[in-house]
Amino acid sequence: MTGRQRPQGFVTRGTTNPNRLRRIDNWIAAYAAGVLRDAADPLVVDLGYGATPVTAVELRSRLARVRPDVRVVGLEIDPERVAFAASAADPPGLTFARGGFELAGLRPVVVRVLNVLRQYDEDRVAPAWATMTGALAPDGIVVEGTCDELGRLAAWVCLDRAGPRSLTLAARLSTLDTPATLAERLPKALIHHNVPGEPVYDLLRALDDGWRDAAPYATFGARQRWQRAVASVKAGGWPVLDRPARWRLGELTVAWSAIMPTKFS
Ligand SMILES: C[S@@+](CC[C@H](N)C(=O)[O-])C[C@H]1O[C@@H](n2cnc3c(N)ncnc32)[C@H](O)[C@@H]1O
Repeated sequence: MTGRQRPQGFVTRGTTNPNRLRRIDNWIAAYAAGVLRDAADPLVVDLGYGATPVTAVELRSRLARVRPDVRVVGLEIDPERVAFAASAADPPGLTFARGGFELAGLRPVVVRVLNVLRQYDEDRVAPAWATMTGALAPDGIVVEGTCDELGRLAAWVCLDRAGPRSLTLAARLSTLDTPATLAERLPKALIHHNVPGEPVYDLLRALDDGWRDAAPYATFGARQRWQRAVASVKAGGWPVLDRPARWRLGELTVAWSAIMPTKFS
């Protein structure tokens, strides 16, 4: 950390919960396994960890299964939350510091920033994305998104240094009523665009239609039903990026280019 840059952003509500970010962490562990294993410096930033550092502690232990010497730095813009987290530090694998979207001068290979931008105005998203991706190490990624309090519904955008690459929707299938409920958890860049005429609206409709049509498969379990629903989304021409092994987990990942708000196209 240079100590000279002013942290970019502002303090927001610090709500967090143990295990809330499990789906996101497991996806990062799979998707970023290669970049983590190959990194000369396996540095990961958890930006905006909140009132307690519990999800940063969990991130470190989940990514250590991929890269045992992973270094997670929890950055918070609220100095009181930095001080509070100090007792959970376990250097060099887990440390805490003050920082914002500029990432405090660090050059991480992975940035997880969950439930942070949701509390900003939409016009702050693109500059925050650009600032974070501009600080990444080569081949690095930013995972930015939103989830519910218990992490049963989640949605996140994956970005690299060139910009947004994909959107992932993820749900705990055993408690999922309908995929339409994922709309409430869309990342800030998309949530205001879930209206007719916008591609993300069409995607959620396609997933919901597929879920409804797959109702007979519910007798074989919610996983079967979700897999059928995702397969129908793919058959409908959506650029589904992930494989059935991920669908089984209640995920769907599509190319950003297909759901980008029309104002950017
Ligand atoms: C709702 S909590 C999220 C906690 C955790 N990431 C989670 O998902 O459970 C949001 C936290 O982000 C912090 N925050 C907001 N803007 C930030 C920024 N630009 N840089 C660093 N932290 C920020 C807030 O101070 C707050 O503690």
